[in-house]
Amino acid sequence: MTQSKNLSIKRLINGRYWASHHPLADKTGILHAHDLLIQNEQIIGLIAKDEGHYAFNSNDIEYHDLKNMLVTPGLIDCHTHLVFAGNRAYEWEKRLNGATYESIVKEGGGILSTVRATRESSEAELYNLSLPRLDSLMNEGVTTIEIKTGYGLDYDSELKTLKVIKELQNKHSIDISPTFLGAHAVPNEFIHNKSAYLDLVIDKMLPDFFTARLFEAVDIFCEKIAFSLDDAKRLFEKAHSLGIPIKAHAEQLSHLGASGLVAKFKGLSVDHIEYLEESDILLMKNSGTVATLLPLAFYFLKETKLPPIDLLRRHKIPIAVSTDFNPGTAPMASIRLAMNMAAVQFNLTPKEILKGVTVNAAKALNRSTSIGVISPNYLANLAIWAVDQPVEIFYELGKNPLVQRIYKGEFRKH
Ligand code: NIG
Ligand code: FE
Repeated sequence: MTQSKNLSIKRLINGRYWASHHPLADKTGILHAHDLLIQNEQIIGLIAKDEGHYAFNSNDIEYHDLKNMLVTPGLIDCHTHLVFAGNRAYEWEKRLNGATYESIVKEGGGILSTVRATRESSEAELYNLSLPRLDSLMNEGVTTIEIKTGYGLDYDSELKTLKVIKELQNKHSIDISPTFLGAHAVPNEFIHNKSAYLDLVIDKMLPDFFTARLFEAVDIFCEKIAFSLDDAKRLFEKAHSLGIPIKAHAEQLSHLGASGLVAKFKGLSVDHIEYLEESDILLMKNSGTVATLLPLAFYFLKETKLPPIDLLRRHKIPIAVSTDFNPGTAPMASIRLAMNMAAVQFNLTPKEILKGVTVNAAKALNRSTSIGVISPNYLANLAIWAVDQPVEIFYELGKNPLVQRIYKGEFRKH
């Protein structure tokens, strides 16, 4: 079996492909009457169903009958905080009784309460806590996920988180893009000396962890209750000098202008952006920066200020959609729920939402030439759905229409 691996080709027949870029796709983005050819990890052809049968020795072809099911690119969750310990349900209860997210932060709760629990946990404990969260996303067709640090906030605990991410990557059929978010909050021991903490992040953790190839991009929470625009500038300048791609939690609770700054550094994405303004969007227009919308955090914080969707559309900014899975503002490990809420709360169209968890999410992770599109030369990372229309992927919650994932050319149970 292993001997024939390089030669053998999988030919997926009787499938329908969500390939909205394809000239023959219908108005919902579906391409009919085509077969997909996969060799090893890669897609090598998307061809008309009558074509190409003569081209290969039939012994080298494995046929897979998809029975009219819908195939999308494997979904990409491009913004999560999946590795953490502890429980913030009691804070939610406080909020349900009238407290605000900011007031809880000021009392020492919020991110710092998760930091305490995460610091106290071993690598093995963190791994075991993270696994069911990862499983739940994989079970909904996710084949690539971004995971941020940011609940350690000291050298050893951030390193521990990065090691857990690496372990998750090594043991599971999912592609993980780690992001360093040392600038998530100021830890208690530096509460009166924020700039010394930032020095530690910028001068020590950032170069050390990047040299050890433990992360791919750097993030910062730019907000009145976290880091300022000047802090972000310091971080980005250092990251830029080391060739590290940047992104930010920007304009989530107020407008600070971090998005424009990210754009000036040609950053990968600005995330949340409820308070984004047109002047920021104009800066993003030529930078390739993706606007990542996080409808679960919007919902869970009972935010009422909508991100400027029409302006993003008008200026043709690529829009990604992600879970933001985290214990404080989005404790839901469900990309389908995020997609559903992007539709209901943000009025995105099904096509925009599907692009938001595939091609545009790939762009936000600097992977736009390898994943997110069903096309030759892309990785064969796919999700197979028992649905008629694409919108059904996130229509009926409580019933999961995922049949199988294909990860790097291999069929996976989930
Ligand atoms: O994306 N905004 C900052 N970070 C997270 C929340 C983290 C937390 O509350 O633990 C977010 O919403
Ligand atoms: Fe986040």
